Amino acid sequence: MGKMPIRKVLIAAAIAMAAPAFAQQAAPVGDAKEARKKIAMCEGCHGIAGYRTAYPDVYHVPKLGGQSAVYLASALNAYKAGQRQHPSMRGIAASLSDKDIADLAAYYAGAHK
Ligand code: HEC
Repeated sequence: MGKMPIRKVLIAAAIAMAAPAFAQQAAPVGDAKEARKKIAMCEGCHGIAGYRTAYPDVYHVPKLGGQSAVYLASALNAYKAGQRQHPSMRGIAASLSDKDIADLAAYYAGAHK
């Protein structure tokens, strides 16, 4: 076996060190199975075919299934923090813990509706 050029060794070491830090940031660690107990409060609005709800007026609701877990979690955190203003979502997000948010994000990221 020949010696590896020092530059390659350094690059390999940099990648090895960077990888775990990146993995931690990649997605909130949610448990989609846990979320099944929590989605009842979401499905009334987000689970309707056509993504419309009729109260108080007919309005559209965004489709959650298949969106990235990172996006879903940050949207929920933004409602919770008041950075997003929608009144019903603010009220709901305010009642969710960080773990609820991670679980729900994981669930909807893997769901198809
Ligand atoms: C009363 C109806 C209602 C309920 C119940 C509800 N949502 Fe929503 N949700 C909405 C509406 C309407 C919007 C769009 C709000 C806006 O324009 O900011 C929304 C937006 C969102 C968004 C942002 C989506 C995007 O594409 O930006 C997420 C994420 C979300 N809801 C998750 C949930 C979760 C998780 C639950 C259950 C814990 C839930 N919602 C319960 C009506 C509801």
